Amino acid sequence: MPALVLLGAQWGDEGKGKATDLLGGSVDYVVRYQGGNNAGHTVVVGDQKYALHLLPSGILSPGCTPVIGNGVVVDPSVLLSELSGLNERGVDTSKLLISGNAHIITPYNVTVDKVTERFLGKRKIGTTGRGIGPTYADKINRVGIRVQDLYDESILTQKVEAALDVKNQLLTKLYNRRAIAVDQVVEELLGYAEKIKPFVADTVLILNQALEDDKVVLFEGGQGTLLDIDHGTYPFVTSSNPTAGGACTGAGVGPTKISRVIGILKAYTTRVGSGPFPTELFDEDGEALRRIGGERGVTTGRDRRCGWFDAVIARYATRVNGLTDFFLTKLDVLTGWEQIPVCVAYEIDGKRVEELPYSQTDFHHAKPVYEMLPGWSEDISKAKSFSDLPKNAQSYVKALEEMSGAPISAIGVGPGRDETIEINSFL
Ligand code: GDP
Ligand code: IMO
Ligand code: MG
Repeated sequence: MPALVLLGAQWGDEGKGKATDLLGGSVDYVVRYQGGNNAGHTVVVGDQKYALHLLPSGILSPGCTPVIGNGVVVDPSVLLSELSGLNERGVDTSKLLISGNAHIITPYNVTVDKVTERFLGKRKIGTTGRGIGPTYADKINRVGIRVQDLYDESILTQKVEAALDVKNQLLTKLYNRRAIAVDQVVEELLGYAEKIKPFVADTVLILNQALEDDKVVLFEGGQGTLLDIDHGTYPFVTSSNPTAGGACTGAGVGPTKISRVIGILKAYTTRVGSGPFPTELFDEDGEALRRIGGERGVTTGRDRRCGWFDAVIARYATRVNGLTDFFLTKLDVLTGWEQIPVCVAYEIDGKRVEELPYSQTDFHHAKPVYEMLPGWSEDISKAKSFSDLPKNAQSYVKALEEMSGAPISAIGVGPGRDETIEINSFL
């Protein structure tokens, strides 16, 4: 059985955690391939709610091996506290595997993230402040620290020295901050080394062997398509590739192994942080979506910006990820509107545009062209099959499917595992 990718089709927070957890019971490995603890994935199991940041959502399924791939950036202090938090709640985390090639988010990367944002002022990205961008920058600049470096003190010291040489100049001379001492960083990082060691493995070899043995591997994306460093709304993006190709580079698995790419798609749209958002609402509808949908960040506690569904974005996600299916989430949140606007195209400088413009300037000028779909008032949270949905909810789903370019294979009608309508099986 080949590999599946599950990723965000919009700006993150689509419900990837719930979807991954749902499949977690039937797969052998769940692999994070990019991002770090900027993610906040909520999983609700019975009356228990878990907020996962760095760990793959498969960690809650006992038969599943959770993997942190080489493309992830790992903050060791966050990793250890997330693990101990789960252990205290009785979750067995001993199967976790972490790539020795994954990069470490060092304390200075977190500092640089925060001071850079402050320096940008009103041009800030609105990052999560977790050191994600600066850690990926160090990786690309070839001055990054990798998990394997924790096990060679001399190499670690040389690498931290090389990284801090430049950063301390910036911190002291540009940002007016105190320099960071090499010894202090090395000591802190070495303090994590032994605790993390049991999990460190050659994950590329393990995952490829697993695929050879017909095991099921699920790649769990963090963030979303529009936050992708290449394909997102640059510069208002994260610093990694949440899109499907990122699963290959971020885990060391070839594209020929991937048979299915599932886009998690919210029945409306949200975004956290700065950047363009054509269907954003500033009225009571936006407020209602935020309230009913519980749209508050799992990682930073910030209110999420809310707007109507945007089919232009969904079509774009289908294209850049080669999506085979959508998992439509939070349909229940739309219950109660008499009519629901759906953005079918943009108007840009007086012209109707059907596809996402590549030009950032054009996207900033995009105004949504809405089609009104009839709403429903019946409670849908108990629906178990498509035919249980009120007719107007069925037509809403069908209309979205038609506009978005891939079949909707599952529908979320509540946060719990069982609050899902499965239309086509994923496995
Ligand atoms: P992720 O980052 O993509 O994993 O999504 P988040 O966990 O940040 O945000 C999604 C939120 O919606 C969480 O609070 C989930 O528990 C919740 N959720 C997921 N699917 C559904 C659904 O179908 N209906 C409702 N009402 N809530 C959902
Ligand atoms: P999940 O996995 C929503 C956003 C931040 C900011 C931008 C860059 O829960 O969907 P970063 O700290 O990554 O450098 O911030 O990306 N962002 C997210 N928005 N969901 C996320 O993750 C996000 N991770 C980062 O708000 O705008
Ligand atoms: Mg989230």
